[in-house]
Amino acid sequence: MDLRTKIVHAGVDRDPATGASSVPVYLASTYSQKDPEQPGRFDYARSGNPTREALEKTLAELEGGATGLAFASGMAAIASTFLLFQPGDHLVAGMDVYGGTFRALDALFARWGLRTSFVDTTDEANIEKAIEPATRAIFIETPSNPLLGITDLAAAAAIARKHGLLAVADGTFATPYLQRPLEFGFDVVVHSATKFLNGHSDVIAGAAVAREAELGERLRFIQNAFGAVLGVQDSWLLLRGLKTLGARLDAEQKTAHWLAERLAALPEIAAVRYPLLPGHHGTTREVGDRASAARLDILDDNRVRRAVGEGKSVVHHAVLLADRPEVPLALGEVHRLLGGRCERCPNTEHGKNEFFHHLILYRSRSGRLRPLCRQ
Ligand SMILES: Cc1ncc(COP(=O)(O)O)c(C=O)c1O
Repeated sequence: MDLRTKIVHAGVDRDPATGASSVPVYLASTYSQKDPEQPGRFDYARSGNPTREALEKTLAELEGGATGLAFASGMAAIASTFLLFQPGDHLVAGMDVYGGTFRALDALFARWGLRTSFVDTTDEANIEKAIEPATRAIFIETPSNPLLGITDLAAAAAIARKHGLLAVADGTFATPYLQRPLEFGFDVVVHSATKFLNGHSDVIAGAAVAREAELGERLRFIQNAFGAVLGVQDSWLLLRGLKTLGARLDAEQKTAHWLAERLAALPEIAAVRYPLLPGHHGTTREVGDRASAARLDILDDNRVRRAVGEGKSVVHHAVLLADRPEVPLALGEVHRLLGGRCERCPNTEHGKNEFFHHLILYRSRSGRLRPLCRQ
């Protein structure tokens, strides 16, 4: 079946209880039981809810895993996955993982006794070198945020298998439409569903999908015990957003490629980070001829710095604006051109030392590059 068709019909196509063609928002927190000794499928909504379950089945089917789980945010999905490990354990993670993931590992889980070595996973030899006797898992983000580095998933999974480690991938930027880490031998794929999966900037959500049912049940236990579940209305919104994943990503790939090639040719731009441009950081084997990320990073140089009037070192994230169809989508949102951190929008966090700037770069009549802060 064509993947776009599969996306539209994946999971629970209609409400099993009523036949409604859109799974209803089941707001109930509790479900009465005919026999308290033998509870029905649903009893308390943290443990299970029909709307969330429809979403979870969809996520599992799209990733090709046995168990899908929906969480209150990407960080909730990631942190809940880290709860598979215990104090004394050690992880090997990408040095360019999302800043919030770095912060959770560095400031929270490290305090709790879970250590992490951060290495450049775009060269898989670094993964193997960092493995210790206490290592239990590798955590790969590909493409990574913010540098869009690409890690060879098959090679990373083979290293994990050789050393008996769990392989976990953050697939936020590619989504299962472009990359399915479980097919490369990964055990768990996690997502910030806030981004491309939902795609409409109206939900904070996370997902974890396990390849095997046994691991899926361990994660389901954590989901229920820790309790960072996705709310019902957000589950429904995410189900709806997912239906257009294929159409949105097709458009994003086209426009991202268009923009990347043109920006790369501009003398004001020092570098464009885009997985399909020659010389990109990390192999592009995983993404083949499809750009996995619809986001571009334009590394600043002095000329751009002068042009935008900034005295600091900046990294510009160029992405997509829906009302300019020739330009690509940023972080999966349908209305924004650029993503990153800005002095004027201090709420966004990357947790690293670089300074990021929310910019839409456009050429003014005089030919100068000009910034347009969107927040
Ligand atoms: C790659 C990646 N993983 C995880 C997260 C965290 O997701 P959330 O903001 O939904 O908690 C983000 C957020 O930007 C991200 O970019």
